[in-house]
Amino acid sequence: MPKELRDCENSAPKVFIKTFGCQMNEYDSCRILKLLESCGYKSAPSYEDASVILLNTCTVRKKAEDKVYSALGRIKKIKNSRPDLTIAVGGCLAQQEAQNLIKRFPYVDLVFGTKALPRLPSLLESAKNGKKIVDVEMNSSREIYSGNSYSPAPCQVTAFVTIMQGCNNFCSYCIVPYVRGSEWSRLPSEIIKEVTHLAESGIKEVTLLGQNVNSYGKTLTPKATFSELLTELNSIDGLERIRFITSHPKDLSGELILSFKRLEKLCEHIHLPLQSGSNRILKKMNRVYTREEYLEKISSLREIVPDIVITSDIIVGFPGETENDFNKTLSMIEEICFDDLFLFHYTDRPGTKASKISAKIPYKTKIERLNILNDRQREISLKNNNRLAGETFSVLFEGTSKKGFGDIAGRTRTNKVVNCKGPSELIGKTALVKVGKANIHSLTGKLI
Ligand code: SAH
Ligand code: SF4
Ligand code: F3S
Repeated sequence: MPKELRDCENSAPKVFIKTFGCQMNEYDSCRILKLLESCGYKSAPSYEDASVILLNTCTVRKKAEDKVYSALGRIKKIKNSRPDLTIAVGGCLAQQEAQNLIKRFPYVDLVFGTKALPRLPSLLESAKNGKKIVDVEMNSSREIYSGNSYSPAPCQVTAFVTIMQGCNNFCSYCIVPYVRGSEWSRLPSEIIKEVTHLAESGIKEVTLLGQNVNSYGKTLTPKATFSELLTELNSIDGLERIRFITSHPKDLSGELILSFKRLEKLCEHIHLPLQSGSNRILKKMNRVYTREEYLEKISSLREIVPDIVITSDIIVGFPGETENDFNKTLSMIEEICFDDLFLFHYTDRPGTKASKISAKIPYKTKIERLNILNDRQREISLKNNNRLAGETFSVLFEGTSKKGFGDIAGRTRTNKVVNCKGPSELIGKTALVKVGKANIHSLTGKLI
């Protein structure tokens, strides 16, 4: 490399992005990196190597918020030894706590909200001059989502694609509508272009993202439906699998259920948050469905796709949740036999309706309830997985096995993790695997 170029490489600002929270934040971080790279930044491998540290934060639950604070504690030491380091905090917690962050962590240079991403290069420029910069304007951020997302790494097999953002549902416990704003959808043509680019770059599986993904298209003129978008994506050459998260039960239409049967690339897995099995609590949560309606949707799904895998989110200890309400949630879990559950204990989020309900459940009770559901679900998950022993599945291999069960790891169309012995050349390819042992969260098998 010529010396001038090498000097230029060395002097380019290096950014390390640490992402907290959901897949949408991961997708945003890819977009941020691409934008900054187009402005001359390089990607740094760690905090220590960076001249700009950027935290893309989450605030969905208290624990998510605390994780950011502890990262900021660690970064303080790095900033003390390198005062020229720029610290930027963005995303959902930044949107919510802007001024407080600057006060509590005075070494933070820039706070930017969820809508400020396109303005990031100029905000960082201003922050380098020693001024404290805060941009939490809720005006449009859409231009960052146009054009191709990024060129995936050579070994990358799967990718996320945000297709809609924001949420109009205002579940009473949830902060997302406040920090992500109201719902909007990307144009079908833009999404098709991006997924085509990913497929041409070697991506075999995309997961479509949205806070309420199956409400896709409602804000577009002319309106588009989620099923129509899935139909279009299903015909993209080279793409093998399509998934989506997260669906709201109220928007699970008959048309969408039929898509699982109609579209060969749409994988047989749905994550359908239930939140509670008690109608009284569901009403207080503003979830707008009853347990009976939820059960009906599950029956329709299973009728159309008998082996569909269904996973869910549950909150225990919502304000006012009685023992009776909790038992109704437990009975739903017994009845539905989800394949996996994400269990959360309720925490207040500032400004939400639920945070103003005074009948808070003691921490100890919340944890007891969480443990009961967790223990029961582990038994159910294992029982469901045990049924798969001896069966053969087509597995898309994504990488080497993390848990040391075997050499390579992949997933079935139903989203079960499978570990098995096999050559790394299979990564990025689909092969048949016969399941041997079942674990709670994964399967082990043999290539056939
Ligand atoms: N948009 C998705 C996910 C939202 S956040 C959806 O509608 O399902 C992911 C999960 O966090 C939620 O499904 C809920 O179970 C949980 N959650 C959200 N707010 C919470 C709070 N205040 N306390 C505890 N869990 C919460
Ligand atoms: Fe939050 Fe409810 Fe919207 Fe999901 S649907 S993001 S839980 S308000
Ligand atoms: Fe967290 Fe924001 Fe996602 S609050 S869960 S990062 S939308």
